[in-house]
Amino acid sequence: MTNLVEYMLAEHEYCNDLFCDGENLATESKWSELKSVFEKFVMETEKHFAKEEKVLFPHAEQSMGSDAGPTAVMRMEHEQMRALIGNLKPLIEKENKEGFLGETETLLVLMQQHNMKEEQILYPMIDRMVGANLAAVIDAMEAL
Ligand SMILES: [Fe+2]
Repeated sequence: MTNLVEYMLAEHEYCNDLFCDGENLATESKWSELKSVFEKFVMETEKHFAKEEKVLFPHAEQSMGSDAGPTAVMRMEHEQMRALIGNLKPLIEKENKEGFLGETETLLVLMQQHNMKEEQILYPMIDRMVGANLAAVIDAMEAL
């Protein structure tokens, strides 16, 4: 049986790998390859966000009886990341390497801080809340 922290960690690593591939392709001005890697990064990141926003966070919010706690901060940071990701697309279209790498630097810092908070605090907390329902929670995330 997979543990929740490991399952979510693997998702962060996968998105991170795609992100690094994108940065490397931009550095090498491989724009058409970057386009497809970037699309995949956006798709996988949105899938990961959806698993948290639609399945994982509601679990925590229900257990805590409030949606104003740490999950509210995580949801807000997702919006900040979505905005930064949105800024990247036109920069790829324009093949603006400097602009792209500047924005990805900002996104990387935000993403690293966000993921660290989830991995060290939120996921272990939700793992404890979910307890024996872990398989059902993972199934619900997989079904999205
Ligand atoms: Fe997140």
